[in-house]
Amino acid sequence: MTRLRAGRRPVLPTLETPQSREVASADPRSHAPLGSSSPAGRELLSQSVDLYGTAYGNFAAQALQQVRLETYGEDFGQSSWVTGAEYRRFCRLLQLRATDHVLDVGCGSGGPALFLAREVGCRVTGVDINEAGIRTGLALAREASAQDRVEFRHADVRQPLPFPDQAFDAIVCLDVMCHLPDRGRLFAEWRRVLRPGGRALYTDPVVVTGLVSREEFATRSSTGYFEFAPPGVNERLLREAGFELVLSDDVTDNEVEVSRRWHAARQRRAAELARLEGEETFAGLQRFLATVHRLTRERRMCRSLYLARRPEE
Ligand SMILES: C[S@@+](CC[C@H](N)C(=O)[O-])C[C@H]1O[C@@H](n2cnc3c(N)ncnc32)[C@H](O)[C@@H]1O
Repeated sequence: MTRLRAGRRPVLPTLETPQSREVASADPRSHAPLGSSSPAGRELLSQSVDLYGTAYGNFAAQALQQVRLETYGEDFGQSSWVTGAEYRRFCRLLQLRATDHVLDVGCGSGGPALFLAREVGCRVTGVDINEAGIRTGLALAREASAQDRVEFRHADVRQPLPFPDQAFDAIVCLDVMCHLPDRGRLFAEWRRVLRPGGRALYTDPVVVTGLVSREEFATRSSTGYFEFAPPGVNERLLREAGFELVLSDDVTDNEVEVSRRWHAARQRRAAELARLEGEETFAGLQRFLATVHRLTRERRMCRSLYLARRPEE
């Protein structure tokens, strides 16, 4: 029997592109010792790395602005896997109107909420647990003179949402769900704060659709608390919370492409970003992005979109 050395994965048959080779060449395992390939044979899984504190705290830094532009093409201040084209599609799916009030759950540094207000003309309230994100959102809203339409609040959505019943026409939640325990309880809160007939749209970027090693799980979850769902669980929990599932769709391609571009844009500024973020954080984020890219390109993890509706009463 051939024994595979721990810490090595068999090479999987993948469709190699020049782009995928760019990320693959920055092998995540080259940045830090992982698994028992370390000298003492110890298990050294990925250290946690502060993606959001780093991104939101340095939001205005020139280097990070350039990274966002090269990553997303259209930089509206997002820190997820969402591009402008994709978000416009989400707005259409939600059937948003200028008279709507939208709740953005896990709004990050506020860019996506301001994007909605700009594109649709609606009111948006964003909540996030990250204080640097909320501070940046408030500053961006002031800069855009959008305080009358866009509001940000510091809130931990693991707690009951700080809003009355039926306060919103729609809910959007971009690549946040994986960070939240007990999403069934959150869905019940969404149902409470949505008006009857209101819609909720969210993306889950870590639906497990293939074989994933312990190291890969550790690196993929190195940016915070994570829950990985198998296919079908999001759908079931939405139904159990009283939602009608309108659509579920595979939106993995965006994660494949954004992670590739994000990694490459940061790698081109490696020295500058290592000074800004610290060597360890820089390397940790590169390892994280390379792992996201590999897992999604090989479709071992997928990103799913869910659109649900609170039934009329
Ligand atoms: C991938 S970012 C997405 C940010 C934003 N939706 C975007 O598209 O740019 C995930 C966000 O979830 C937020 N988050 C994680 N746990 C949270 C919690 N318990 N309550 C509120 N926000 C949370 C993080 O602070 C982070 O801003």
